[in-house]
Amino acid sequence: MNEIFTRRSIRKFKAQNVEPEKIDKLLRAAMQAPSAANQQPWEFIVVQDKEKLAQIAETSPYAKLAANSAVTFVLLANDKELKVPTAWEQDMSAATQNILLEAVHLGLGGVWLGVATSNAVAENVSRLFELPAHIRPFALISIGYPDEQQNEFVDRYKADRVHYENWK
Ligand SMILES: Cc1cc2nc3c(=O)[nH]c(=O)nc-3n(C[C@H](O)[C@H](O)[C@H](O)COP(=O)(O)O)c2cc1C
Repeated sequence: MNEIFTRRSIRKFKAQNVEPEKIDKLLRAAMQAPSAANQQPWEFIVVQDKEKLAQIAETSPYAKLAANSAVTFVLLANDKELKVPTAWEQDMSAATQNILLEAVHLGLGGVWLGVATSNAVAENVSRLFELPAHIRPFALISIGYPDEQQNEFVDRYKADRVHYENWK
């Protein structure tokens, strides 16, 4: 699948909106992800409002680029949907990767911005969106049409990381 190999984190975006049909496709791709016991814990906030995007950019020192994205998805997990509580981050990661790959397929660029990776950032996101206690923020994905950067293949294959039949 070409998109897996050419996907790059895109952090510069053209001042061009992403079409509603493409946003719909990205959300559909997210919800096709596998999840433990098929629990599908995800919820999404779709942000296109420039003022809100600027506020999102302030939630993490590594999320500044969100301000110039066409759309940023806030990925959330609903505690009330958890049948396998230990799996929530894995479920959310699968959904996140689906969005990033579908974005490449649609001619867009995007980047995964960690939220659950930092308690401080998670608290900032919870506060900004006034999330109830059972809604856990997981990540942000900023998306847009790439500017000055493009999705392109970088070879990361390391033969010495592959072990056949056993560790040694
Ligand atoms: C859990 C996670 C958190 C990340 N957080 C950020 C972030 O806060 N800001 C950012 O610019 N990139 C972030 N990234 C993107 C990585 O920096 C990027 O995937 C990595 O450098 C490899 O580059 P590539 O995506 O172009 O292959 C994150 C990626 C992951 C998987």
